[in-house]
Amino acid sequence: MRTKIVAGNWKMNTTRDEAVALAKAVVAGVPAGTKTKVLVCPPFPWLTAVAEVTRGTPVAVGAQNVFHEKKGAFTGEVSPGMLRECGCEYVLVGHSERRHVLGETDAAINHKVHTALEDGLHVVLCVGETLAERERNLQERVFQRQVYAACAGLTDEQFGRLIFAYEPVWAIGTGKVATPEQAQTAHHNIRQRMSQLYGEKIAGSLPILYGGSVTAENAAGLLNQPDVDGALVGGASLKADQFLAIVTAAPG
Ligand code: 13P
Repeated sequence: MRTKIVAGNWKMNTTRDEAVALAKAVVAGVPAGTKTKVLVCPPFPWLTAVAEVTRGTPVAVGAQNVFHEKKGAFTGEVSPGMLRECGCEYVLVGHSERRHVLGETDAAINHKVHTALEDGLHVVLCVGETLAERERNLQERVFQRQVYAACAGLTDEQFGRLIFAYEPVWAIGTGKVATPEQAQTAHHNIRQRMSQLYGEKIAGSLPILYGGSVTAENAAGLLNQPDVDGALVGGASLKADQFLAIVTAAPG
């Protein structure tokens, strides 16, 4: 049985005070004894402040990006070790905004996955097709390419710290959420592809989150699908009550 995971990607939002207040509200509102893993991903500058709030609580902290080298002359970049010192246990890699707005390639994403896992972080690897790709029914080929490229060379132990997030680009920030059936089909396809590549054990224990216009209203339908192991939430994660409603919508 895979644990459900609900993660909030705050993107480039919040002031420091807003970030701390949001983290406090999330910590206070996570139901005692919940089996769902709760994760918040603030912007880099607020990681330490948020990690101070979540320390000793069931809420974990993730970063939204990481560089693929451990140290050196890489102006403006942040290493996995730095993230860990800030209190991060998780990091998002390959978010569609990084792929499509900032030009990250599959090869760069593979390097990031390796370096982050080597340094002990859990990686939330984001994959998903654009609207143009879906309209041409190419989504399965996109998963194949993204999954194959991102996971090349990982060890079995490293797969144990990998989480996937299926985020169809057409659903991100648009209010056009995938239907539970669309999400289930995509997650099932991704899991089958992983099984073909790496075997049933790795594929069966891999958590696959859905992301893209998840709200308190549509979360239960998505989270009750057998291959949907959680949610990666953007806009709705900036309101503690909405985010917490998504956390409590997760079955189990
Ligand atoms: P929205 O929930 O705002 O659509 O964003 C989804 C997302 O990109 C999470 O990483």
